[in-house]
Amino acid sequence: MTTPNLSVEIAGIKLRNPVMTASGTFGYGAEFAPYMSLEKIGAIVTKGLSMKPKAGNPTPRIVETPGGMLNAIGLQNVGIEAFKAEKVPFLRTIATPVIVNLYGNTLEEYGELTEIIDTIPEVAGIEVNISCPNVKQGGIVFGTDPKAAFEVVSLVRESTLKPVIVKLSPNVTDVVVMAQACVDAGADALSLINTLTGMAIDLQKRRPILANITGGLSGPAIKPVALRMVWQVAKAVQVPLIGIGGIMTATDALEFILAGATAVQVGTANFLDPSAAATIAAGIEEWLVANGVSDIRDLIGALKTDR
Ligand SMILES: Cc1cc2nc3c(=O)[nH]c(=O)nc-3n(C[C@H](O)[C@H](O)[C@H](O)COP(=O)(O)O)c2cc1C
Repeated sequence: MTTPNLSVEIAGIKLRNPVMTASGTFGYGAEFAPYMSLEKIGAIVTKGLSMKPKAGNPTPRIVETPGGMLNAIGLQNVGIEAFKAEKVPFLRTIATPVIVNLYGNTLEEYGELTEIIDTIPEVAGIEVNISCPNVKQGGIVFGTDPKAAFEVVSLVRESTLKPVIVKLSPNVTDVVVMAQACVDAGADALSLINTLTGMAIDLQKRRPILANITGGLSGPAIKPVALRMVWQVAKAVQVPLIGIGGIMTATDALEFILAGATAVQVGTANFLDPSAAATIAAGIEEWLVANGVSDIRDLIGALKTDR
């Protein structure tokens, strides 16, 4: 068989393959260049950016749990000005689309930040984090109330000509309601899911392990939840979806694509193997060849649910 087509498109962003890196697990891209060719993956999503630099939460802020990890980083980041001055020059040198993940502490900050990012030509698209469970302001408030989500996404949509991807929280009763609100507000694509709120306890100390007490659960433990949410949202909206949650192998990624995702993001796997995303992309190609599938797009949403 000839080489299969792996390229997909998310809201006008052309990806050579459907594997992206998940925000917060891949720095700003350059940190991972020593471990793999960044040109082997579809896109890079940066650590979530805010207007001002942010130190994040006190430590300990990461703990391993069965089947995953809990983090309460608290959106530590360099801030938009340092991103422009220190990170963009490297990103300019790679032929892989860069998607900037952003969050605001207030509605207005989401708008202002988007206007600044709109002026950076190296940024292919914006992923709006309305779903961080680890910060008091912003984040989760917008991610759990459909009215607030509609407002913030509308403002971001008005503030840029770049594609707008909205990242959804799983910490809601009905993810479809949130997805619909974001699409109604003009989201070009949705990524799901962010982490699930959890906690870990040290019995001897009788204390929570994380200084923040609770954190966001990621990794294989959340994959079934993420698959279910991608499948539900795919049936309800027309925009492309990016599936995230416990993707460790090419098989995991392909399952998300069958459930309705056009692309996927790899997060926790990067901590185990910094070249995981490239390995997963290569594995998808191998699977397509072995199974006689000539185009990855034929698998998007191709899950059979009839009995
Ligand atoms: C250490 C860490 C930091 C994260 N930081 C962000 C962030 O800044 N913005 C965001 O939208 N998601 C963030 N996430 C969530 C991931 O992008 C991803 O949605 C989640 O980890 C689920 O995918 P996984 O199971 O493959 O890790 C973070 C996750 C981890 C583990």
